[in-house]
Amino acid sequence: MVSATATPAAQLRGIHKHYRLGEVDVPALCGIDLDLPRGVFSVIGGPSGSGKSTLLNLLGCIDAPDAGSVDVDGQAVAALGDTQRTRFRARHVGFVFQNFNLIPVLTAIENVEYPLRLLEDNAPRRRDMARSALIEVGLEGLEDRLPSALSGGQRQRVAVARALAKRPALVLADEPTANLDQATGRGLIDLMRRIQSATGATFVFSSHDPQLIAEADLRVHLVDGRVTAIDTRGGNA
Ligand SMILES: Nc1ncnc2c1ncn2[C@@H]1O[C@H](COP(=O)(O)OP(=O)(O)O)[C@@H](O)[C@H]1O
Ligand SMILES: [Mg+2]
Repeated sequence: MVSATATPAAQLRGIHKHYRLGEVDVPALCGIDLDLPRGVFSVIGGPSGSGKSTLLNLLGCIDAPDAGSVDVDGQAVAALGDTQRTRFRARHVGFVFQNFNLIPVLTAIENVEYPLRLLEDNAPRRRDMARSALIEVGLEGLEDRLPSALSGGQRQRVAVARALAKRPALVLADEPTANLDQATGRGLIDLMRRIQSATGATFVFSSHDPQLIAEADLRVHLVDGRVTAIDTRGGNA
């Protein structure tokens, strides 16, 4: 449910981010103001190079902006030091990477469990959290498989389970269907949509997949590091 009065899941103000490539200054985000309400399935669209990954990395506390403020779950994260930011991310943000980033020598359940070490000291409880997350994404019975013994779609489900297991306020996914065939991508979108409705978590994806974009409640369009349009299901925001 979207509540106008609750603190937004994330709020960006006056965001600028440049990359330095040798002598060249590459602008990635040029003055972004954005509110992401809680419990919303939102998508960041836009052409390649428009700044989608950079924006997600800022929301995910993986990187900090050159200027501007990033609030996640009411916390001003851009002002945190690296260690504090890492700790904040571990608790509040779940990230689904495009290339899954599973650890090849760990089984599905061990992959999901691994990042929970930062949050939960009790090993049996960690295992239960990981098992529930795998069941939630439909991988019951495959807990002990290595990633190499899973299909692309199943690996992506493990990556989703790993992001969700800690019950984060914000779930981020950078082009999650980009490396999947259309049917598998569709299945993943349906799954994430169902989990989003069931948990009320705030999901933010980047995509140029029209299927995924059409599914979103909130669509943010980026061009050259600027927001050119924001629209919600059933009208303009
Ligand atoms: N690590 C980096 N070093 C230099 N330039 C980068 C780096 N990452 C991204 N960029 C540049 O920043 C801009 C935005 O990139 P990105 O956020 O990856 O866009 P998108 O995800 O929409 O493709 C692009 O011009 C890209 O080339
Ligand atoms: Mg990208």
